[in-house]
Amino acid sequence: MNDAKWSEVDNYITNHLIGDDPVQRQVLERNREAGLPPIDVSTPQGRMLELLIKGVGGKNVLEIGTLGGFSTIWLARGLSEDGRVVSLELEPEYAKVARENIASAGVLPSVEVKIGQAADSLAELAESGSHFDFAFVDADKENYPVYLDWCCRLVRSGGMIVFDNVVREGEILNPQSADPKVPGTRQLYEKIAGRDDVEATAIQTVGEKHWDGFLLAIVK
Ligand code: DHB
Ligand code: MG
Repeated sequence: MNDAKWSEVDNYITNHLIGDDPVQRQVLERNREAGLPPIDVSTPQGRMLELLIKGVGGKNVLEIGTLGGFSTIWLARGLSEDGRVVSLELEPEYAKVARENIASAGVLPSVEVKIGQAADSLAELAESGSHFDFAFVDADKENYPVYLDWCCRLVRSGGMIVFDNVVREGEILNPQSADPKVPGTRQLYEKIAGRDDVEATAIQTVGEKHWDGFLLAIVK
């Protein structure tokens, strides 16, 4: 097995189970033109997020890390009626592109992109009494432990939290990793292991996005 074959399998999955998606193709093209880093979830992964939200009956969804809105659009597609996605993004330039993309996907009325440090936005959301059925965390890995604490506060009992990039080509095994994003991810595992209010697992993935994984947690 190699990366080329993993991508071919992603295409096979997409062709059989998801189908052509001109909207999201254009989103990725716009992101590329705008110079955004191509670190979105893959199409099968995005579809999985949509289906997980449908599975929990997601009406209020939180995203930490909007980037260009590719994943945000998948999240919005999973919403139940009158549902909303609140997506947090640090970079105003990314948020601008994301809003254009989200509008072109026809889901702008159900999405709010909040610009700023996610920790500040999360504190505001808590202050205003917001609660969520589902949270997707795909932002600065250094703060994953902080985002875990906030998500456990903001996601309702029975709701789901999904973290992206929790395997990083196996580097999570390495306490001395040269990848600066590894320590925060390792702390995420350690913190979850020490909490008794979440049940969790992590699933390794290969595909167009190489070898990585998702961590899934349900709030008790
Ligand atoms: C990186 C971040 C991501 O969220 C991702 O999915 C892949 C790579 C990164 O910062 O390297
Ligand atoms: Mg990611």
